[in-house]
Amino acid sequence: MKLLVLNGPNLNMLGIREPGIYGNGDYKSLVKYIKESAKEVGVTVDVKQSNYEGELVTLIQKARLRYDGIIINAGAYTHTSIAILDALKASGLLTVEVHISNVKEREDFRQISYISLYAEKVIMGKGFLGYKEAVNYFAERS
Ligand code: DQA
Repeated sequence: MKLLVLNGPNLNMLGIREPGIYGNGDYKSLVKYIKESAKEVGVTVDVKQSNYEGELVTLIQKARLRYDGIIINAGAYTHTSIAILDALKASGLLTVEVHISNVKEREDFRQISYISLYAEKVIMGKGFLGYKEAVNYFAERS
């Protein structure tokens, strides 16, 4: 089981950006946590981050033949990007959507998720733990 964990814009700013919402852990510690979580359940992960919509689309396209599934936190592109939705659909890969914060309790403009139109499961509001739950979901499914 090989998974691609994809993080979108501003997630590289964890630890600095709005700690009241996203916590104090930085991006490096998130990557470490995801890799440790995957190792615990015998799953291989590549963790990537980009601030660019087109790069995220390209990474999803390339994932099609290389991975068994995608865990994606598309950041703000969650609420705007039909291109990322289309790329996920084209990949045909099982997808779990993760958000660190509980977007359902936030601003109106965060209430639409294009990713949710394709993702099999959505995990939100659990901080870093959400990524672990996503990894475990794949491990249990395999
Ligand atoms: C986020 C929620 C998004 O609304 C926001 O734009 C982010 C992070 C989250 O992980 O809670 O950048 O995806």
